[in-house]
Amino acid sequence: MTTPRRQAVRRTAVLRREAVLATVPVAVAALLGAAAPAAGTAGAAGAGDPYFPLSGNGGYHVSHYGLTLRYDTASRHLDGSAVLTARATQRLSRFDLDLNGLKVTGVTVDRTAAGFRRSGQELVVTPRHALRKDRNFRITVSYHGTPKPVTDPDGSADGWIPTDDGAFVAGEPQGAMTWFPANSHPRDKSSYDFTITVPQGRTAVANGVLRGQHTAHGLTTFRWHQAEPMAAYLATATVGTFKVQQYTTGDGIRVYNAVDPREAHASAPVLKKLPSVLAWESKLFGPYPFRAAGSIVDHAPDVGYALETQSRPVYDSAPDISTLVHESAHQWFGDSVSLTAWKDIWLNEGFATYAEWLYSEQHGGDSTQKTFDHLYARPATDGLWAYPAGDPGSGKNLFGTPVYARGAMALHELRKAVGDRNFFRILHAWAAAHRAGHGTTAQFVRLAERESGKNLDGLFHTWLYTKGKPKNA
Ligand code: ARG
Ligand code: ZN
Repeated sequence: MTTPRRQAVRRTAVLRREAVLATVPVAVAALLGAAAPAAGTAGAAGAGDPYFPLSGNGGYHVSHYGLTLRYDTASRHLDGSAVLTARATQRLSRFDLDLNGLKVTGVTVDRTAAGFRRSGQELVVTPRHALRKDRNFRITVSYHGTPKPVTDPDGSADGWIPTDDGAFVAGEPQGAMTWFPANSHPRDKSSYDFTITVPQGRTAVANGVLRGQHTAHGLTTFRWHQAEPMAAYLATATVGTFKVQQYTTGDGIRVYNAVDPREAHASAPVLKKLPSVLAWESKLFGPYPFRAAGSIVDHAPDVGYALETQSRPVYDSAPDISTLVHESAHQWFGDSVSLTAWKDIWLNEGFATYAEWLYSEQHGGDSTQKTFDHLYARPATDGLWAYPAGDPGSGKNLFGTPVYARGAMALHELRKAVGDRNFFRILHAWAAAHRAGHGTTAQFVRLAERESGKNLDGLFHTWLYTKGKPKNA
């Protein structure tokens, strides 16, 4: 499939003023009547991504999130407590977390009550004492309320999306902040523990391995552990009435499938193929990057997309095989190897789409060349050519056909230019070199050139950055 899975300007001034203040002695700053704390500097309100200027935050890195949630499916009320283990990357007088909606009742930094205020999607925290650079610290945030999804620039809903029996929880690109306070940009990856309590009879499914499950007084608590680093947008805590299936694959991967009974019949034949799809992708891309796997098949007809939530994609309805292949490929491309900027989204979607083409080619369907030709035949006025895959221009275009289909076409052109042997070596090398980390388009181009010994500037320029329909296919 070639479309999404459908079945601070203000800041600069503040920073500049505080940069000045940081260089003058405390007493002088106080004399100047500084509104901000006199010592230290404030962390930036965003990670610096022009598509989502307020996503993520500057000045610290989160190594671990401990999220304790209780969701009442009837009233749709969420009680949350988040414990973040962080490290200051600069001296910090103050820092932001991303949190949209919900009521915050308390914040501590290293067990001492901290000042906090809300400003749009920023939760601004002022610790009692400034934190020195490189210091490890612990933040706790207590909060509650009725989570509401955010509306993305493309009009889709993102975040905690209530359903008739729980919630479909998917945060790409900016929805993590609708249900937990986060440094919510893929640049910051962390391990997670989730403790989620829901009414007995409902199941709460998060990422990673199920550590335990316990029922008392009409409530069931699920404990999940995501060991490998994960971007906040890939976290889930999907709640529903699910049929659960658990097993371990021959490769030792722990599989947990949760399926809404209304989607059980349609999804069964596809879910059965998950181990073989993961094994097939492991041959193409290298070892599967996580110890856990699985699927969450919800019945959420209003959502309109699936998401590659780490280790366990979430589907709004029974997926077809190409959607399963797509979300599985994202485990390597997007989840294990993450973006540093949303502009590079083709590194996720182009790769996952090309995995679908390859699956079809190797399983009795259309060849990749035929899929390419079919797309290339579209007239220059077609939406496929509306903007370049490597430069979608804004958050509105992240999940458009040019990113998915033309991104995959760029990979197909690369494959033709370097030959199969080199091409699959490049995919392996990319997944291995950036495993559990990050990668940029420039790094991918360099790696492809190194592995193939070819100059590929022209090719990538044409397929990723040229406006309109490329001529020389
Ligand atoms: N990454 C998802 C996929 O292609 C699509 C997510 C779309 N999200 C959104 N808010 N529209 O598998
Ligand atoms: Zn995708």
